[in-house]
Amino acid sequence: MSSQGLTTQAELRLAKRMAGLGTETAFEVLARARALEAQGKDIVHLEIGEPDFDTPANVAETGIDAIRKGWTHYTPASGLPALRQTIAEEVSRTRGVQCSADEVVVVPGGKPTIFFTFMALVEEGDEVIYPNPGFPIYESLCGFLRARAVPLPLREEKDFRLDPNELAGLISDRTKLIVLNSPHNPTGSVLEPQDVRDIAAAIGDRDIMVLSDEIYSRLLFEGVHTSMMSIEGMKDRTIMLDGFSKSYAMTGWRLGYGVMRPDLAQYFSRLMTNVNSCTASFTQIAGIEALRGDQSSVDHMCHQFKRRRDRVVERINRITGFHCRVPKGAFYVFPSIRETGWSSKNLADALLEQAGVACLAGTAFGKYGEGYLRLSIANSMENLDKALDRIESWVKKSL
Ligand SMILES: Cc1ncc(COP(=O)(O)O)c(C=O)c1O
Repeated sequence: MSSQGLTTQAELRLAKRMAGLGTETAFEVLARARALEAQGKDIVHLEIGEPDFDTPANVAETGIDAIRKGWTHYTPASGLPALRQTIAEEVSRTRGVQCSADEVVVVPGGKPTIFFTFMALVEEGDEVIYPNPGFPIYESLCGFLRARAVPLPLREEKDFRLDPNELAGLISDRTKLIVLNSPHNPTGSVLEPQDVRDIAAAIGDRDIMVLSDEIYSRLLFEGVHTSMMSIEGMKDRTIMLDGFSKSYAMTGWRLGYGVMRPDLAQYFSRLMTNVNSCTASFTQIAGIEALRGDQSSVDHMCHQFKRRRDRVVERINRITGFHCRVPKGAFYVFPSIRETGWSSKNLADALLEQAGVACLAGTAFGKYGEGYLRLSIANSMENLDKALDRIESWVKKSL
């Protein structure tokens, strides 16, 4: 307040770009569910995409020990050399293509690789093709950077795998970036090796970059994981995103990485210097243990997700008006609810408020998600059964 006694609040003069920035509905639904719980309601949470398991004990202990040993200072912006080297070896082994430490940038989680890719490559007016339904952050960043968002519909008839011919029809002279995500959030679809080769053929020798979001690569129930970076001629045009949040139940540790050509990696490193300085150092030490240590926790989690998937799909397919494909990876099921005659949003709201089950409308993942719901199976079998009992009896009563 000035000496003249001005009491009006200053106008918030936001930069125009903020108008285009979207969000993730999952966190909004979680907040609404929590508000209902505060009123005494019992809610089963199937809205948030994070493993219900604890971080493996060997990894957690290594992180705690690292703090005690003084790993509490800055690291190089692009990550500790030992972690970058460990990641390079892991990527070379799992993607079947030679990868070196200077192609790896360690970042705090999965999202920074998406953000930095867009910031480093996409200009106003550039076209970005991305899966729809799909992880909402891709579309959000198109809005933020005033790029033209070009959604590529994923269709149930194709098991929600993108159609390379349809992709070819969307590529134009303005296309700068194509986003792929396999295993896929929210549908659980997995690209087959031939799909990935066909996508590469559709891109041809055009100077288009691919962001290959492979954050669920370890959570695969059937088939094999194929990365665009392993297709001949595509490595230089691929930014491969992976991380520890989902595979190692480390969402809160904030640890992920991008793999890309070294000249682009230097710009990612510069973005890190500007935004984060570095990823937390003890988290990085824990990451080395995650990759090098015992992998039985990852196998156990994956096995449990598969058991839950089988049960949930089987039960959903017995509910009138619902039907569900069998997801091949990640930890979501994406049932069609078209035959109920309800919109996704109205049905998700009714299930939250009247049945005590929090899930997401398919439209939280884009317009082609209409007619579907996303249920996260990152919850105990007991809670999943409870949620399905509730949905079943609500449907019997209300539809
Ligand atoms: C497809 C996809 N990519 C990236 C992320 C981001 O992961 P993180 O929480 O590590 O930033 C998520 C998280 O839900 C995701 O589903």
